[in-house]
Amino acid sequence: MANGRLILGPMEGVLDALMREMLTDINDYDLCVTEFVRVVDQVLPDSVYYKLCPELHNGGMTPSGTPVRIQLLGQEPGWLAENAMRAVELGSPGVDLNFGCPAKLVNRSRGGAALLKDPEQIYQIVKASREAVDSALPVSAKIRLGWDDPSQCDEIVDAVYQANATELTIHARTKEDGYKADAIKWHHIAEMKAKYNLPLIANGEIWDYASAQACREATECDDLMVCRGALNLPNLGNVVKYNAAHMSWADVISLLIRYSKYEIEGYKAVYYPNRIKQWFAYLRDEYPEAKALFADIRRLQEIKAITQVLEQAHKDAHQ
Ligand SMILES: Cc1cc2nc3c(=O)[nH]c(=O)nc-3n(C[C@H](O)[C@H](O)[C@H](O)COP(=O)(O)O)c2cc1C
Repeated sequence: MANGRLILGPMEGVLDALMREMLTDINDYDLCVTEFVRVVDQVLPDSVYYKLCPELHNGGMTPSGTPVRIQLLGQEPGWLAENAMRAVELGSPGVDLNFGCPAKLVNRSRGGAALLKDPEQIYQIVKASREAVDSALPVSAKIRLGWDDPSQCDEIVDAVYQANATELTIHARTKEDGYKADAIKWHHIAEMKAKYNLPLIANGEIWDYASAQACREATECDDLMVCRGALNLPNLGNVVKYNAAHMSWADVISLLIRYSKYEIEGYKAVYYPNRIKQWFAYLRDEYPEAKALFADIRRLQEIKAITQVLEQAHKDAHQ
């Protein structure tokens, strides 16, 4: 399969603007998608959009020039369309619509993955947003294969296709599969690819070059989206694109020091201890050194105490 675009996908509460800045600086991602923002019954204030996507102040791009598309989540076609229009007016290069979020709260109000049970509503939402946004800009969707049965994806993809979406990302698991690694079903994406004339982006369980190639082969998709793996392995983008060597631990710890400085100087400093621990929870799957260091910092609450441990690890790694 040819190498296509590589997209840094949405991760609510994890992949925020700072993380996008760091990861697009060191990788050649073609596009980022923001964390979802929930739309209920109003046009969200501009301040919400700027907080979600500060890149709007930079023409909708990260500092290194990667476009960032805003993702909306909701169930009401009219309000989603109005917000889609607002997001692009503010500078988002298109919008993405989330139909895959498994969070209980979101699903109770029939947003996110709950809509996988209602392809007609998906159709209405995508169609309304597509009609509201300038046809030169993409309106995309992101789904799972279904609620509890992957055969549901046929009707769902049909709805997205009939509604004229620009492209569709498929996370190759059902909502009921959660994140179980062995539940990944890439081949269903290939079936959809053969049936619908709709650009598809394959997503789920890409951790390195080999799994990216396996995903491309099984799905027959050139375009891929990575999420958790991009945090486990900070240069995953270039590993997937160019078969680059995995980033060394010494380079990872330098990146963590840089990240810490940004976080501490930024307006989110109070969250820093939790944020850095959150990143370690991903990194430890790839780096044994991160596992050991995580054990050292997990009980620390003070910013200074954490950065001292990191500085020491930095010295050790660069000796
Ligand atoms: C912590 C977390 C937050 C997520 N937030 C979003 C989100 O805001 N919007 C969305 O469409 N998907 C979200 N997802 C799903 C991911 O975008 C992706 O579909 C999933 O993690 C599978 O890809 P991966 O195996 O590369 O991680 C989230 C996943 C995780 C683990």
